[in-house]
Amino acid sequence: MNKDLRQAVIAGNWKMNKTRPEAKALIEELKPLAANAGCGVVICVPFTNLETALALTEGTNIGVGAQNCHFAKSGAYTGEISADMLAEMGVEYVVLGHSERRQYFGETDETVNLRTKAALEAGLKPIVCVGELLWEREANITEEVLAKQVKLDFAGISADDLKKTIIAYEPVWAIGTGKTATADQAEEACLFIRNVLASLYGTDTAEAVTIQYGGSMNAANAQELLSKTNVDGGLIGGASLKAPDFATIINAATNG
Ligand code: 13P
Repeated sequence: MNKDLRQAVIAGNWKMNKTRPEAKALIEELKPLAANAGCGVVICVPFTNLETALALTEGTNIGVGAQNCHFAKSGAYTGEISADMLAEMGVEYVVLGHSERRQYFGETDETVNLRTKAALEAGLKPIVCVGELLWEREANITEEVLAKQVKLDFAGISADDLKKTIIAYEPVWAIGTGKTATADQAEEACLFIRNVLASLYGTDTAEAVTIQYGGSMNAANAQELLSKTNVDGGLIGGASLKAPDFATIINAATNG
């Protein structure tokens, strides 16, 4: 296993936070702090902030992502946004299959798979989230859950397309709870996911995929998590809403 074969990416998932003026202030504060990053930096903002984020980050090292997209190209899907709509704006990334979408909005591995295919077809880079619930970990089926999610979410997706995606390992019990997976637990799960990818696509492809950890990653614990061989960055919720904390995590990935 070789960390140098893939890019570390620190992505902020703002979730349902920040009005446009608040988004502008956060991005302006972040820009100079992130300017010398030695890793990829992405902010995944609410749909209403995409245009603001794209304008303010133009010419910088900060990429912009959305937090979901629909799988149809267009049509009668009230309230939904297509991958083509995002790509046309200049959006580069899209978070898919986040546990909050799975938990509150009925998303399944089948719809995550369809959304991932639609995003790739539109030229977006998907950040696909997988992770076990607490009772699944306690029942000792973390590996079965992760294998099932990876196999279904990427069913029918080519090795070339897989290399354009990022996988975020987000144990659901660690999201927004302040309860972080230990660095060893994160490494074990990310390595397991990479081994599933290797069984499906071969070692070279598996080694090239960025696998992030997400779940209460913050300025204090990032360094240890990001030092692990198979943890190639992070998907950050709460701590991405504070520019100095997010910058500390970016620095940790740069050094990690
Ligand atoms: P927190 O960092 O707030 O736990 O959220 C993690 C997450 O869900 C990122 O997508």
